[in-house]
Amino acid sequence: GVDTLMRIPPSMLKKHNRRDDAWSAFHGKVYNITPYLAFHPGGERELMRVAGRDGTQLFASTHAWVNADFMLDACLVGFLVPEPSV
Ligand code: HEM
Repeated sequence: GVDTLMRIPPSMLKKHNRRDDAWSAFHGKVYNITPYLAFHPGGERELMRVAGRDGTQLFASTHAWVNADFMLDACLVGFLVPEPSV
């Protein structure tokens, strides 16, 4: 449920950049894209380009018409937040 979602700064997102542990942010939402990699019509390699980072721009430039929020709803991990200042 929504109460189990995390607040994820870029430094945390960055750590999830491996095939078997890949997160990416789209429009402020962070998704675990690992389960979707094998199903991506554009291929695993293309999708892995956004692993560990904000994929909003690359996503918009490839297929802005695709509803990623709907497709990846079950893979939602949390929300991208600014890096906390020390
Ligand atoms: C194709 C989903 C991220 C590159 C597609 C298609 C879907 C899809 C549904 C088929 C679209 C169609 O035929 O109209 C997703 C989802 C993503 C994602 C849910 C986010 C998790 C990305 C990213 C890139 C990318 C980040 C580029 C770095 C492509 C390319 C195609 C494609 C190049 C065209 C494949 C072809 O027609 O040969 N994607 N995509 N996708 N995607 Fe993605």
